Amino acid sequence: MNNPTIKEALKEASLILNNPKEASILLRYLLNYDQVQLLLNEQKTLDQYQEYQTLIQRCKVNEPIEYITGNVSFYSRDFFIQPGALIPRPETELLVDCALEIAKTKPLRIAEIGTGSGIISVMLVLLVNKIEIVATDISSEALAVAKINAKKFGVEDKITFVQSNYLDNIYNEFDMIISNPPYIANDFELEENLSYEPQNALFGGKVGDEMLKEIIDLWIEKKSPYLLCEMGYDQKEPLTQYLINHGIKEFSFYKDLAGFDRGFIAYAGV
Ligand SMILES: C[S@@+](CC[C@H](N)C(=O)[O-])C[C@H]1O[C@@H](n2cnc3c(N)ncnc32)[C@H](O)[C@@H]1O
Repeated sequence: MNNPTIKEALKEASLILNNPKEASILLRYLLNYDQVQLLLNEQKTLDQYQEYQTLIQRCKVNEPIEYITGNVSFYSRDFFIQPGALIPRPETELLVDCALEIAKTKPLRIAEIGTGSGIISVMLVLLVNKIEIVATDISSEALAVAKINAKKFGVEDKITFVQSNYLDNIYNEFDMIISNPPYIANDFELEENLSYEPQNALFGGKVGDEMLKEIIDLWIEKKSPYLLCEMGYDQKEPLTQYLINHGIKEFSFYKDLAGFDRGFIAYAGV
């Protein structure tokens, strides 16, 4: 049987996936075409029809499209991604925004805990001149992705990546600690597509906020002025209590675009 045209294959895949956008992304990835090239060539035979069908089947069983294509958009940039590193989420752009507000006003030495694909640190050094960053992750696979992204954006000399548990064996002083740590409770039942992502990037402990509390402890111990963290939508109350109980007076929470509590900024004024 002859292979279909690009247009026919796209139509078929859109129906199978019930998602024309994903069908188009996968075809453009396969052909290395942009949207215009796809339109201009839509009457041509799709010689790679079998390969396209394989991609469609992977997507059909909920493998994240970012892992299939190796690409994820964050802060309007195209970052590299692969299994072993968490797929960056749009709400994490808000954490970068909060850090930028502070970093614009003064030079900063920053520690990022749990850098994953490196998106937070890479964006900060791309957008602010006078900052130095040490970025840790417990996962060597995640750090490999972060290093590829730092290189892709030409900032590999500005970020020191270290495989570490939190900030173990790092003795520098920092003006800011920033983190989007795992914050889901261990027994939370995840949607199927999340099963492709590294579990140590998602689960934060029995309750979920254990790592966030560890990071608050570490920040206090390190006497660093600023702490910025992303958190779960239901963690504002326990973290408020935790901060107050540890003598922290200046802190505020921010919401994501859906209106859920999503993170906090604490200041220790040291
Ligand atoms: C929610 S992901 C965030 C990744 C990335 N910063 C982002 O925002 O997309 C959490 C990251 O923390 C790392 N991690 C988990 N436990 C850690 C620990 N004890 N010390 C350092 N990093 C840890 C995971 O490997 C994962 O990359």
